[in-house]
Amino acid sequence: MKNIFDFQGKVALVTGAASGMGLATARAFAEAGASVVMTDFREDLVQAEAAKITATGQRAIAMKCDVSNDEDVRRMVERTSSQFGSIDAAFNNAGVMAKSAPMAESSRDEWDRVIGINLRGVWSCMKYELQQMERQGRGAIVNNASVGALTGNPGIGAYIASKHGVVGLTRTAALEYIKKGIYINAVNPGLIDTQVAGDVVSGSEDAYNDIAEQVPIGRAGRPEEIAAAVLWLCSPAASYVVGQAITRRRRNDGRLAVSLKRFGTDWMDVGETDAWNSSIRQQRHPVRRGS
Ligand SMILES: NC(=O)c1ccc[n+]([C@@H]2O[C@H](COP(=O)([O-])OP(=O)(O)OC[C@H]3O[C@@H](n4cnc5c(N)ncnc54)[C@H](O)[C@@H]3O)[C@@H](O)[C@H]2O)c1
Repeated sequence: MKNIFDFQGKVALVTGAASGMGLATARAFAEAGASVVMTDFREDLVQAEAAKITATGQRAIAMKCDVSNDEDVRRMVERTSSQFGSIDAAFNNAGVMAKSAPMAESSRDEWDRVIGINLRGVWSCMKYELQQMERQGRGAIVNNASVGALTGNPGIGAYIASKHGVVGLTRTAALEYIKKGIYINAVNPGLIDTQVAGDVVSGSEDAYNDIAEQVPIGRAGRPEEIAAAVLWLCSPAASYVVGQAITRRRRNDGRLAVSLKRFGTDWMDVGETDAWNSSIRQQRHPVRRGS
């Protein structure tokens, strides 16, 4: 198989690219040879990050896009297509954490803010990206959902509902567009070392470490590790992967497993055995692959 991470001649669009997983994924696409369009509502930051990439000889441009604003999204897709001629890969990643409050005390404004960015934003991005990809007759879309798409989590109902919605949209669009050569999948990251993860635990290091210890690998993920999954899903190596939400989850009985959510049906767990779980408990140290 030829180099699956060769994106020479391809165009990749990333939302929420000013920091965290969006930035790591934009950098990874650029390193793999793609022309990258980095967008974020924090325009200065995303411009500065794109300039750092171009300074290394790779190709990146930045533009402002608030994904909760349909007109911004339409313009983002239109400018990308007119400047580069196509959108081969799109990572719909922009998102925010909800302010924590029990449901009876949560506000309509906060609901609208979180749903508007995390869920309607993904819908809006897919709507315009798909119009372009249909014209091209090809493309790959990856949406950034969350393990929160699979379970409840007290205090952040709007966030959890938004991420359940992202997986539902992903599965539906995947069915609608696979026959047109457009691959649509999601990633469901667990705890990844970014601003959003800090927001989940309201900045508490103890709470952060508690969650990190419950992860099978014994630590929080790095943004680059999600970027690698996104590039794979956008590559020819994932040519038989459709409508998936690639997940790390916690089992209901308290044990932990690494899982792939199978399209529309049940779980395919990897290493879901007692031996796996007890060996994981003994491995509370960082595990690095390929470094
Ligand atoms: N970090 C985690 O543990 C974790 C886990 C599961 C899912 N996620 C999801 O990953 C995605 C990326 O978050 P991250 O963890 O990299 O955090 P992050 O805060 O570093 O990145 C989020 C990016 O989205 C941008 N953004 C926010 N609102 C926007 C808007 N309206 N329009 C455009 N851009 C906007 C921010 O400026 C930022 O650059 C989010 O969708 C988040 O919900 C994060």
